[in-house]
Amino acid sequence: MKPPPAFLLLLLACLYSRTATSVPAAANTTKPAITPTSSPTPPSTNRSSSSAATLDPKELEALQSLNIPTTKDPCIQPSPHNATICDSSKPFRHLVSLQLSNCSSDLSLSFSALKSLSSLRSLSFTDCHVPPIRFPSDLALSLTSFSCVRSLRHLSGIWLSRFENLTDLTVSHTPVNTSGLHVILGNMRKLKSLTISHANLTGYLPGHLHFNLSYIDLSDNQIRGKIPTSLTLLEKLEFLNLSSNGLNGEIPTEFGDLITLKNVSLASNSFSGSIPDSMSAIPGLVHVDLSRNQLNGTVPEFFSNMKRLRVLNLEKNALHGVLPFNASFIKRLAVFKIGGNTNLCYNHTVFSSKVKLGIAPCDKHGLPMSPPPAKDVSSSDGSENDSSDYDDSANGSSHKEHHHGPSKVVVGVAIGIASIVFLIIFLILLSKWCG
Ligand SMILES: *[C@@H]1O[C@H](CO)[C@@H](O)[C@H](O)[C@H]1NC(C)=O
Ligand SMILES: *[C@@H]1O[C@H](CO)[C@@H](O)[C@H](O)[C@H]1NC(C)=O
Ligand SMILES: *[C@@H]1O[C@H](CO)[C@@H](O)[C@H](O)[C@H]1NC(C)=O
Ligand SMILES: *[C@@H]1O[C@H](CO)[C@@H](O)[C@H](O)[C@H]1NC(C)=O
Ligand SMILES: *[C@@H]1O[C@H](CO)[C@@H](O)[C@H](O)[C@H]1NC(C)=O
Ligand SMILES: *[C@@H]1O[C@H](CO)[C@@H](O)[C@H](O)[C@H]1NC(C)=O
Ligand SMILES: *[C@@H]1O[C@H](CO)[C@@H](O)[C@H](O)[C@H]1NC(C)=O
Ligand SMILES: *[C@@H]1O[C@H](CO)[C@@H](O)[C@H](O)[C@H]1NC(C)=O
Ligand SMILES: *[C@@H]1O[C@H](CO)[C@@H](O)[C@H](O)[C@H]1NC(C)=O
Ligand SMILES: *[C@@H]1O[C@H](CO)[C@@H](O)[C@H](O)[C@H]1NC(C)=O
Ligand SMILES: *[C@@H]1O[C@H](CO)[C@@H](O)[C@H](O)[C@H]1NC(C)=O
Ligand SMILES: *[C@@H]1O[C@H](CO)[C@@H](O)[C@H](O)[C@H]1NC(C)=O
Repeated sequence: MKPPPAFLLLLLACLYSRTATSVPAAANTTKPAITPTSSPTPPSTNRSSSSAATLDPKELEALQSLNIPTTKDPCIQPSPHNATICDSSKPFRHLVSLQLSNCSSDLSLSFSALKSLSSLRSLSFTDCHVPPIRFPSDLALSLTSFSCVRSLRHLSGIWLSRFENLTDLTVSHTPVNTSGLHVILGNMRKLKSLTISHANLTGYLPGHLHFNLSYIDLSDNQIRGKIPTSLTLLEKLEFLNLSSNGLNGEIPTEFGDLITLKNVSLASNSFSGSIPDSMSAIPGLVHVDLSRNQLNGTVPEFFSNMKRLRVLNLEKNALHGVLPFNASFIKRLAVFKIGGNTNLCYNHTVFSSKVKLGIAPCDKHGLPMSPPPAKDVSSSDGSENDSSDYDDSANGSSHKEHHHGPSKVVVGVAIGIASIVFLIIFLILLSKWCG
């Protein structure tokens, strides 16, 4: 189905004449003016005022001692990778935000340099494998945001606990050695966003948490024990990720008190008991992941009434009974996973057998038919290498199945006709364009 050579020549000739005549226009439409590379966090103050004041010389010296290039005033032209933000005070401006990333190996934090930087409100380290030092308490108390991603080698709970005025704390991919979260959070009364993930954090969830928390990500640690009731008292909580820990016990019946919750993952723990009915009272749930636990009982029907739900993952639990959803609910979701629940089945008058849910159809008693369909993966609990099939069927829930398709001849003829029609349209357009 190659275009005839004559057609190719025509096309080339036409293209050549177009480009040859339109070079000036193209040059000025396709290449936008090169704007100065902006730092990840642009300066908060405007440039007209910045000419009036420069960075406090003491802070400039501190930056220099940390190997941060200061040939250009960091308040006026922040370097892209270790971004700086200054306030607009006079006669000298002060540094309010400092982001260190990809630190060179000769960088070392010094107490005196950090002491000169105690106007900082926000400090972040990304890929900075420098040893942590004790922060001057002026700086520790001044910070409202602290972030450490794959940096500072390892941290202790007591070291973190000194940042008493934080509203945002992020520690990720950095081991934190502490007897428990309560050590870290004890004095952080203003905390709104808490992330300590991939940090090998041990101990229990604290019996007391600060009311203003709206974001909690403690995923991938070694936290043990039950979900304390204190957690269900967080009236502003929108995001909760406790996945991949060693949590157990039942999901508290008060879980539904978290009425502002949008995204929740309790995946890959050892939760047991049933999915609490109170969850039906949370109106804005978008993302629910309770997979890889030992939850039993039936699948609650209320999920299908949640208008905003996009992701529902209940796979690899011990849920039983008849799946209470219909096909249109599942189609509405971006992700639906239910496989790996051995005693769960679907009503084959509700779902066609083409739908791959990873569970067996029900017999007339509402029990899984055995043996499960040949195509379905083995749904034995705990087997780890059976996920690929659900993943396919879950995403977009099983449309686009190719089976008993039209014969190859029909397809070939169809493609042939389509390409001829396309060619004719193309030639007509081409002749207009060139003319
Ligand atoms: C091309 O650049 C000229 C001069 O710089 C300008 O006047 C004209 O508007 C530009 N054309 C387009 C399409 O942007
Ligand atoms: C720039 O800063 C000056 C002085 O601080 C202020 O008067 C002006 O409104 C600011 N302009 C903008 C666009 O923020
Ligand atoms: C850090 O270094 C890596 C590789 O050396 C590079 O890909 C990345 O863009 C750098 N990030 C920053 C913020 O400089
Ligand atoms: C800051 O960035 C520059 C170049 O991007 C780099 O040479 C320097 O080592 C960085 N300093 C720190 C402290 O990361
Ligand atoms: C930080 O908190 C302490 C008490 O924990 C308080 O005395 C101090 O004024 C606060 N500092 C700032 C800069 O907010
Ligand atoms: C957590 O501990 C495991 C094994 O003890 C180790 O392989 C892993 O690197 C640790 N993670 C971090 C972030 O230190
Ligand atoms: C963690 O802390 C405990 C007690 O505070 C200490 O004995 C242990 O050596 C620390 N481990 C590391 C790796 O720092
Ligand atoms: C919680 O947040 C509100 C509004 O953001 C604030 O007024 C209040 O002081 C905060 N409470 C605590 C304990 O920080
Ligand atoms: C929870 O955290 C895990 C690991 O950090 C991540 O893979 C998962 O997407 C998160 N879930 C939600 C609901 O954010
Ligand atoms: C569900 O799990 C709980 C806690 O493990 C147990 O007490 C209960 O008997 C189980 N229920 C069923 C129906 O298996
Ligand atoms: C919450 O979940 C939705 C759907 O998966 C996702 O698009 C959104 O980014 C999540 N929000 C956060 C804060 O992770
Ligand atoms: C399956 O659905 C049909 C029609 O909705 C209903 O009559 C039947 O009782 C259901 N079977 C089971 C086992 O729930």
